[in-house]
Amino acid sequence: MYNPIEDRRSIRSFSTRDVPDEVVRALIAAGTKAPSSKNRQPWRFVVVKGAAKQQMLDAFADGLRREERQPLLPGSKQHLAGARYTHAIMKQAPVTVFVMNTLGCDLYQSRSPEEKLYDLANVQSVGAAIQNILLAAAEAGLGSLWICDIFFAYEELRGWLQTDGELVAAIALGYPLESPNPRPRKPLDDVIEWRE
Ligand SMILES: Cc1cc2nc3c(=O)[nH]c(=O)nc-3n(C[C@H](O)[C@H](O)[C@H](O)COP(=O)(O)O)c2cc1C
Repeated sequence: MYNPIEDRRSIRSFSTRDVPDEVVRALIAAGTKAPSSKNRQPWRFVVVKGAAKQQMLDAFADGLRREERQPLLPGSKQHLAGARYTHAIMKQAPVTVFVMNTLGCDLYQSRSPEEKLYDLANVQSVGAAIQNILLAAAEAGLGSLWICDIFFAYEELRGWLQTDGELVAAIALGYPLESPNPRPRKPLDDVIEWRE
């Protein structure tokens, strides 16, 4: 029997088949069922499809070009080629959902420890919503990819989105054209520490 936790994969090849709006809506509804710190529900979802998709891809490409000249992420230069590949995946995917943290701090704002911890709780809440969307997508037979390579175009995409909150991630969605093998996981005993 299909088990979304076991069988979900990051999908990087999508068919051109349209994803109906009501399916996208149902996935986002699953996202909003996630727990959130103090039930603040600090999320907002921007669904990009159709004609808006090219504008979004152009903003991403502008950022990738700017990143070569004037990097916001100088230490991540070795990941720029991977980000170009992610751009190509987003070009294939019929739908991309941008996920915002509506209570997020501005990227350039310095933060007190209290603000950092508050932010950490909000980002965890948004992450839980994203994971719900991925699992619901897998259950519905859709492929998904959780994307942070958009950070290479953080300002450009933020400027294009012009919506509330800070950008946390994007999710590419579509019907999968591949069924990859599971990626390796660290051995369980390496990641659990028992204290009794
Ligand atoms: C926060 C986060 C950001 C990610 N960003 C990207 C990305 O920008 N591009 C990409 O191809 N995959 C991205 N991934 C997918 C990971 O590479 C993938 O989850 C990991 O290799 C494990 O594979 P699996 O999802 O198939 O189990 C991201 C995953 C997470 C959780």
